[in-house]
This record gives sequence, C-alpha cells and structure tokens, in this order.
Amino acid sequence: MTALTLSTAGAATLRADAIVVGVAKGARGPVVAPGAEAVDKAFDGKLAAILETLGSTGAEGEVTKLPAPSGLKAPVVLAVGLGPVPAKGEAYASEPLRRAAGTAARALSGTKKAGFALPVDETGDIEAVTEGALLGAYAFTAYLGGEKNAKKGDNGPKLPLAEIALLGAKPRDKAHKAAADRAIALTEEINRARDLINTPPNDLTPEAFAAVATAAGKENGIKVQVLDEKALAKGGYGGILGVGQGSATPPRLVRLAYTHPQAEKTLALVGKGITYDSGGISLKPAGHNETMKCDMSGAAAVFAAVVAAARLGLRVNVTGWLALAENMPSGAATRPGDVLRMYSGKTVEVLNTDAEGRLVLADAITRASEEKPDVIVDVATLTGAMVLALGNRTFGIMSNDDAFRTSVHEIAGEVGEASWPMPLPADLRKGMDSPIADIANMGERMGGGLVAGLFLKEFVGEGITWAHLDIAGPAFHEGAPYGYTPKGGTGSAIRTLVKLAERTAVSA
Ligand code: BES
Ligand code: MN
Ligand code: ZN
Repeated sequence: MTALTLSTAGAATLRADAIVVGVAKGARGPVVAPGAEAVDKAFDGKLAAILETLGSTGAEGEVTKLPAPSGLKAPVVLAVGLGPVPAKGEAYASEPLRRAAGTAARALSGTKKAGFALPVDETGDIEAVTEGALLGAYAFTAYLGGEKNAKKGDNGPKLPLAEIALLGAKPRDKAHKAAADRAIALTEEINRARDLINTPPNDLTPEAFAAVATAAGKENGIKVQVLDEKALAKGGYGGILGVGQGSATPPRLVRLAYTHPQAEKTLALVGKGITYDSGGISLKPAGHNETMKCDMSGAAAVFAAVVAAARLGLRVNVTGWLALAENMPSGAATRPGDVLRMYSGKTVEVLNTDAEGRLVLADAITRASEEKPDVIVDVATLTGAMVLALGNRTFGIMSNDDAFRTSVHEIAGEVGEASWPMPLPADLRKGMDSPIADIANMGERMGGGLVAGLFLKEFVGEGITWAHLDIAGPAFHEGAPYGYTPKGGTGSAIRTLVKLAERTAVSA
C-alpha cells in the first residue's frame, strides 16, 4: 500500500524522485496550474513555454517528464494534464484533479517517492488528489512469481509508487488532515475490493470471500454472520441455493452490520457476489466468460462500503448483504425449466440459468427487507443489456422512487462516478409471466436491464425505498488504464455508496 502524507515541504526542497505538477489546457497553449509556483520559478518562470515546446497541451491524460532544473532537490518534474483551464473565478473540479493525480501515480510506478504539487486550495481538492493518487498507485501483484517480480524493468511488473508527499496541504490543519484521512480509508477499501475482484475464481470461492469478510469485520468492529449451505437450506433460500447447487464450492449469504449508537437511520446494501459466472447449464459461449470472475463486483462494493463506513465512524447503521455463489453447470445444477421456491415464498421458473444474479439478489433483498431498513440499495453486474445501453464506464440506476433515483445519480456525480437514471416500465413485467410459477427469471430481450430491475423490485419489502445499480459496464476495465482506473476490477459504485451513507448519517 502506498503511503501518503501531507507535507509542509516546498516543492523545491523536497527530497524525492520526482515532483508532480499540473498543466492545464489554456486558450493559447498550456498553463501551469496552481501549486507549482516554486517549480515554475526554478525554471525561471518558463515551465509553460518549455512544456509547449515539448508538445504538451494540458489535455487530460497527458504526461510530460522533464529533467529538473538545478534549483530542485528532485531530479525529475512530471507534468500531468488537467484538461481545460477552469472558467474565470472557478476552481478546478474534483474529477479532473482525481484523474490527473491517478495518471501521475501510474506514470511513476516503479519509483519510490514523489511530491505532488497539484492545486489543493480547498479541502475538497485534497480529498480528490489523495483519492486519485492512491487509486492510481494500484497494482495487482499477488499472482506474479518471485522470478518475474525480481525482473523489474524488463517484463517484470513495476511496483506502485511507494510514497507520496502531498504538498501545499497542512498536516496540522484539522480539515486538511480529515480530508486526507477519509480519502486514505476509502481508497484502501476500494483497492481491497479491486483485489477481491481480480483474484481468480479458483481461489476466491464464496467460502473464501466470506472468510475475508469475517476477518475484516472483526478488525473493524462490524458484526458478521455467515449462512453456509446448510443454514441456507434450513432458511429456505431457494434462489441462492438454486444458483450455487451446480458448483463444487457451495454458496454463502454474509450479513455485515455496522451500527452507530447515535444513528437514526439504517441503510441496507445488497451485493451480487457470483464468484464466477459460467452461465450454468445455459452456458456462456467462449468470449463471454473470460472475465466473469468480476461477477462478484457488487458484493465487493458492498463489503468495501460497509468497512469504509465503519472506519469513518459514520453516524448511520449500514448493513451489508453479500449474496455469494458460483454459477456452474453440472449434474447437480439448476436446469432451464426448473422452478425455485425463493426465500420470499415466491416461485420462479428458471428459463435461463445465466440470469442468475437476480435470483441470488432476490433472496438477499427479501432477507434485508425483513429488518425494515430505511433504504435498500443493491449493486450488481447484472446485465449485458445495461452495457449495451450505457457503455463501459457508466452504471444504470433504477428505483421504486424517482426522487431517490435522482439523488443517487447526483451523489454519484459528486464523487466522480458516471451513472444514468433508467426507468422501470411496468409493461415489461408481463414478459416474465410464467404458466407454472409466480414469475420467470427472464422476460423480453429488449430492455433486458430494465426487465432485471423489474424482477428485483418484486422482492423489495412493502414501503421500503430501493435503488438498483447495474454496474456491469464499469465494474471491470478491459482497456488501457486511464486516470485512476487500472485494468481489471475498478471498485465501481463504492464512492457513491459511501457518500450515500454519509448523507444518510446524522452529522457529527
Ligand atoms: N453476469 C452477467 C452480466 C454481465 C455481462 C456482467 C457483461 C458483466 C459483463 C449476468 O449474469 C448475465 O449473464 N446476464 C444475462 C441475462 C440474460 C440471460 C437474461 C445477460 O445480460 O445476457
Ligand atoms: Mn449470468
Ligand atoms: Zn452474472
């Protein structure tokens, strides 16, 4: 884990391997961003001109490395693009800062120490830069052999930037310190969620995931209960069991409860935790299953959000439900045509075993509803249809309450997560009518993401405000890394969930 400290050192005097500065895109060429004054001075005020000569424009994602001038202790200056210069009188928005810090941290992987001299005029900026830097300084190295690890520089992986000094922020300023501490706790949990998502499914079984949650619960004062396959059978969790029964590694339902004595509200978070989705008997074709270890990203997000809420001591009760199962074909697997009796008592005709997420979520949502929380939010890599609709970087939000859907969308925007409100059109319900059961697990193909949302809605307890986040697009990033987003698990929706918990909390 990369260490980040607030430092009163000047950019010129800091002993480090590199100093990071921001460069923005101005109307007439690159503009050096606030925070880099001392560095610019060491370049005799010519940093912008030098950057322009080197082809820098200040565009987002751009990285320019320069040898440092003699006035600097660090040997390298790294200029990172911030995108357009803000309008007159306006500060840099959080997301460009977050992304630039992430880009810089990634560009410095393999290095030991860097000073970040980015704009940090407000505490919000400190938070954004800290988040971006620590999310960018992420690498999943658990499965790289010692030999490959040792070969740094060739094929070997570069280890993340080890140490970051955030310049311009004051370690003795309570607000500054709190902003950095919040960002550190949050990003540690996001990076842990990424590790879980990236862990191959032969190792991250439902049982293994439950063990990780149990250990983290203990560490953070969170009550953890795990229902194993026997307890699930006794409790009548037909959805979770039906999905998990084809696998050699049995399902689990994990309940994580963080409570605060002064809390007035309870937020229930439910995560889809399919540790591997082969499709089951309705087997996915080759080309569609290689990344399906990511199908537990919703559960990883819920887990991270509960732990983060506990670490931040939020004055709200947050209960997390991890619906964990592996969806595999076998002689014991659920068949297309089987009818499951769900935890709610409803019967479901399984027409496609690849529509498994809604089955495990339905049981967990029913169970969560029993405790009458004020709000339920479920998070799931639920449908390919949502990816077709919104692409790879935006999650869909559905809800039984339009105002709540809007507020989740706004919160996501505030924390820099792209999302879009989606409807739950009542006319799509009849496509799930079954001749022999209360409902089928599949309906019309068109609007498949909304059909899945309508299915879940039927399992939400009477009068409970509920939202469903379909993160199938942004949960797992297959392209080249950008900003603070690495290849693989991204930790999608965690920042939104934590901000929602903060908004639901009694203020300190
Ligand atoms: N886990 C998949 C959805 C998915 C697709 C996640 C792409 C991440 C990336 C889900 O279980 C699934 O298979 N959904 C089916 C539902 C269909 C059979 C009704 C789908 O979307 O095709
Ligand atoms: Mn599936
Ligand atoms: Zn799935």
